[in-house]
Amino acid sequence: MQVFETIAALRTARKGYATLGFVPTMGFLHEGHLGLVRRARAENGAVAVSIFVNPTQFGPNEDYASYPRDPDRDLALLKDAGADLVFLPTPDVLYPPGFATRIEVGGVADELEGQSRPGHFSGVATVVTKLFNIVQPQRAYFGQKDAQQCAVVRRFVADLDIPVEIVVCDIARETDGLARSSRNVRLTLENRQKAPVLYEALQEASRLFRSGERNADVLEGALRVSLIKAGVPDIDYATVVNADTFRREDPCSENALALLAVQAGAVRLIDNMPL
Ligand code: PAJ
Repeated sequence: MQVFETIAALRTARKGYATLGFVPTMGFLHEGHLGLVRRARAENGAVAVSIFVNPTQFGPNEDYASYPRDPDRDLALLKDAGADLVFLPTPDVLYPPGFATRIEVGGVADELEGQSRPGHFSGVATVVTKLFNIVQPQRAYFGQKDAQQCAVVRRFVADLDIPVEIVVCDIARETDGLARSSRNVRLTLENRQKAPVLYEALQEASRLFRSGERNADVLEGALRVSLIKAGVPDIDYATVVNADTFRREDPCSENALALLAVQAGAVRLIDNMPL
């Protein structure tokens, strides 16, 4: 496994591989990330991974400074998972003085996370486009955990004619159902114990949907009741949307996706489930 901090060195090494699968990450890796790396390993001649906590996708009051980081541990995990190339740039490598371009995605990027985190998807789209241009992979792997991010990436890849196939992988969960996330380590013990209720609430909505319920108010009510009963008061959104547009539909279509975002102390948790 080779590790690069500069664009030039990564580009030179990249020339040695005919086909490449790519997994962009912000590090502090867990089984969710490693599942993407293993899938990329199985489906491509070689695998590149980037580790970069991207400042442009964090709002001014968000956790950029306190986002967990442990590059040495990450590199050991990536070696075991079979990564070939790792790109580990510093912020000045990707955003040198004078940097002045941002990619603004409309449509799907304007909903939900787009409302709660202004500028977030623009930061994601900008850095992912840069990483695609640097790494030039044939395929790139993203997690369904960030369902809206996947939709946003698909949108700008199509709109900007970027020749990368986007592959979306299932959500990796802890044994109690909590979706794995780098931020989970920052949950207090009390909030960690409550956190599986997000998954339970989604399962409840899924049960209702499968029993024929299509009223969005009823499905959203079930999500909320589950969260509130478990003592999760700080709900950002608990909603059922069309999985293509991320817009609410009532009655909801067969292509429905339930999504949750809650604030658990200092940590914002998101989760989702296709119904
Ligand atoms: P990060 O949160 O590190 O996630 C990197 C990739 O791992 C994303 O595609 C994310 O959806 C996926 N992932 C995270 N947790 C997962 C889980 N429990 N199961 C399955 N996949 C999971 O998402 C980002 O970084 C950044 O926005 C990035 C795309 C790297 C741009 O900066």
